[in-house]
Amino acid sequence: MNLSLEGKALISALLVASLSLGAAGLAAISIRAMPSSNAAITASPEIVTTPELAVQGREFFGTSCSECHGDDATGDEGPNLHNLSISNARIAHTIKNGIKGEMPTFAKKYDDKQIAALVSYLRSLH
Ligand code: HEC
Repeated sequence: MNLSLEGKALISALLVASLSLGAAGLAAISIRAMPSSNAAITASPEIVTTPELAVQGREFFGTSCSECHGDDATGDEGPNLHNLSISNARIAHTIKNGIKGEMPTFAKKYDDKQIAALVSYLRSLH
């Protein structure tokens, strides 16, 4: 009787152990799955703009862009950036790569999310 109780305890301990291993395994799988889904977002040419990102982008603009494009982006040494007719992807490309002899590249300074913030800010200008 005692033995079988111990046996039952052992079985339930094993069960708990394998269940938590299972959960850890699942967690490992979802952690591994995350970078690949992020990579898919990064590889996508679509730049998602939001009002929240625009607020952040305005800060970056003041740090890096206003010296040439003006405090309100209406232009100075560089052109007016209000009502741009080029696509979000094109704006992002210009920020990343710069324009030879005209505008520096920001690929090292800003990551894709930060560039999306800058694009959001420029898109919010009318
Ligand atoms: C050193 C000055 C300088 C800085 C700093 C600078 N730009 Fe520019 N930018 C220019 C000039 C000059 C042009 C126009 C070049 C041309 O038309 O040949 C330009 C063009 C652009 C264009 C293309 C506009 C169009 O109508 O095609 C965008 C978008 C832009 N800049 C965004 C930015 C952003 C965002 C930043 C900050 C991260 C920035 N620039 C920083 C000088 C600068």
